[in-house]
Amino acid sequence: MKLNDKNILLGVCGGIAAYKIPLLIRLLKKQGANVRVVVTRAATRFVTELTLSTLSQEPVCQDIFPDGSSTDEWTRHIAIGEWADAYVIAPATANTIAKLAAGICDDMLSASFITLRPNKPKLLFPAMDGEMFESASVQRNLSWLSEQGCIVVNPESGQLASGQCGTGRMPEPETITDVIEQAVTITQNDSVLRGKSVVITAGPTREKIDDVRFISNYSSGKMGFALAKAAAAKGAEVTLITGPVHLHTPEGVTRLNVESSEEMQNAVREHHTSCDIFIGAAAVADYRPVEAISGKFRKEHETMEISLVKNPDILAGFSEQKKAHQLAIGFSLETAGNLDHAKAKLKQKKLDLIAYNTFDGKTSGFEVDTNMLTLIDNSLSIQELPLLSKQKAAEKMLDAIEKLLNSSK
Ligand code: CTP
Repeated sequence: MKLNDKNILLGVCGGIAAYKIPLLIRLLKKQGANVRVVVTRAATRFVTELTLSTLSQEPVCQDIFPDGSSTDEWTRHIAIGEWADAYVIAPATANTIAKLAAGICDDMLSASFITLRPNKPKLLFPAMDGEMFESASVQRNLSWLSEQGCIVVNPESGQLASGQCGTGRMPEPETITDVIEQAVTITQNDSVLRGKSVVITAGPTREKIDDVRFISNYSSGKMGFALAKAAAAKGAEVTLITGPVHLHTPEGVTRLNVESSEEMQNAVREHHTSCDIFIGAAAVADYRPVEAISGKFRKEHETMEISLVKNPDILAGFSEQKKAHQLAIGFSLETAGNLDHAKAKLKQKKLDLIAYNTFDGKTSGFEVDTNMLTLIDNSLSIQELPLLSKQKAAEKMLDAIEKLLNSSK
């Protein structure tokens, strides 16, 4: 039984394909899965709660606040999300897809979509009229959800409920079961990163001029945080050493806040021996004032000079002392066409992998949500990634790190 004791949360929306769901539940149960069903209000027009609860042997949930909600009922959207090993939404209608993409959570189905633990697969089986499926908004929402890591299984072509032919049919329950089994097995399969200690630096550093002023840069920390989230999702024990940023700590990640490059370096040093993989994603200020002025500097002169001294390279410092089993990964932020600089930096800093990060000030680089990376490993093999969300780019980087770990086994 391929799904033995796996907890499958099944979200059913209001589409005609919902008539296939009772059969899907039976197949999942046959494979040993525990199945709980959440429905939208519209879904109950197509398939009854009685049928779904009888087959799943569990009560069906719809409202976040059911009539006469008791204390444990109103937090059920959290409990259900935490319970699930996979969340399958079938059929996924255009309306629910839009809600999920926008983060709306006004019913049990959409709220538990958000509370699902980050390393658990989310599978969407869109089913609707062909023209609806091809519409710009549905395609935009699906591609956004897929960029966030959802597995979107495109509908099949054939005769639709409208009598017309087109692409919009939900796959048969047997096919859906196969896809769920695959997704759950892949996530179950231990990533080589599981249990590995990953230390990541992120964000800018602040180098004090006096007690109220500092030198810094525009780094938002988004790339480092995306890496932390992706590494935690693969089961790594992640320590995120971050300069001042306005970002939430990803679930399961230990965060250490630092301000200056010196503090960042000390925090990295403390983790040096225990760390298996070090990723330098921080934009460490290159220089700091030789001496910070104590108190507040007063503007008494027309000009002022600040003597700066180069900061130690935290990443190069790690590489210098790294043991054979440890990996050092870095970034090289360059304007386009400077791949050779990145290759030189890989050698200079004795890295195992470098992400050549083209900076264009608009879609790639600081502050924005997307990034264009070229990954170069220590054998100088090159993987050019397209413009991706930082989260997706982070996942691709971790795939490359997994490859390095597998090849060094
Ligand atoms: N890095 C670091 N400590 C520093 C400077 C950089 O750990 N003091 C790390 C960054 O986290 C990043 C990589 O080194 O992984 C960037 O290297 P750097 O030489 O600073 O590259 P650029 O910023 O691209 O600088 P430049 O081209 O000016 O040398």
